[in-house]
Amino acid sequence: MSSETTEMRAAGITTVRSVHSLRAQLRRWRQDGDMLALVPTMGALHEGHLALVRHARGLAERVCVSLFVNPTQFGPNEDFAVYPRDEAGDAAKLEALGADLLFAPAVEEMYPPGALTRVSVPSLGDMLEGEHRPGFFTGVATVVSKLLLQALPDIAVFGEKDYQQLLVVRRMCTDLWIPTRIEGAPTIREPDGLALSSRNAYLTADERRIAPSLHRTLRAVAEGVLVDGADPIERAAWGEAELLRAGFDAVDYVAVRDAETLAPWPGPSRPGRVLAAARIGRTRLIDNLAVA
Ligand code: PAF
Repeated sequence: MSSETTEMRAAGITTVRSVHSLRAQLRRWRQDGDMLALVPTMGALHEGHLALVRHARGLAERVCVSLFVNPTQFGPNEDFAVYPRDEAGDAAKLEALGADLLFAPAVEEMYPPGALTRVSVPSLGDMLEGEHRPGFFTGVATVVSKLLLQALPDIAVFGEKDYQQLLVVRRMCTDLWIPTRIEGAPTIREPDGLALSSRNAYLTADERRIAPSLHRTLRAVAEGVLVDGADPIERAAWGEAELLRAGFDAVDYVAVRDAETLAPWPGPSRPGRVLAAARIGRTRLIDNLAVA
């Protein structure tokens, strides 16, 4: 155990808070020839995150999980202040899964006084989520580029639940020559189809009953364009109306897009993805599905 005061063992897993300690630990593993996978998270870990950690364990000898609620990816009216936080619970879950290291930096470690640089991915990061949450993907790309350069993992694992985020991170790594392989892991769902998300905790019992219609509607949109040959724009508009009928209060978008570029889907010659964001009460849910 290092003498760094920032380092401690919580529930058996080593937690480091400084980039210095992170790099010292990772250097040891690298010298042993171990492959390293990083799983970036904002904590409040649920089964969806744990599946990412399991995925990472299958790909590399060492798994580091980062836990950082990143202020730069929250808009002024979003839930940064109340975002669920449970570091001790998260550490216990990671320990039980056999993750090797938890990196839980403070805001000042990630954004020291004087830090100015931001990373943005125009176009891909400006549409869909980017249009409805201005600045969101710049916050994500900035913090993920920092995490990847701090840890220099061989592999980093992101959930397909945040499909556009996965594409933005891949694009950023390619464009900046960041030598980390970006792995997407499948979305984990409740038995009724609702994708696992930390924000599901905000749903009231009534809202929770409405929420699975998001997944059902995405399936119907995907089937409509693929099996029935429906026009993707008309089918997406049908999907938006369907969500409102099911009880959602507002729909930010339903869209059928090219799975790699997020340009409008040209048809079955290209892989497609249907993506949506909708609000019930104070909760905003997103989901997506392959058109396959
Ligand atoms: O998906 C998330 O939890 C976050 O956007 C990420 C990738 C950890 C960056 O803060």
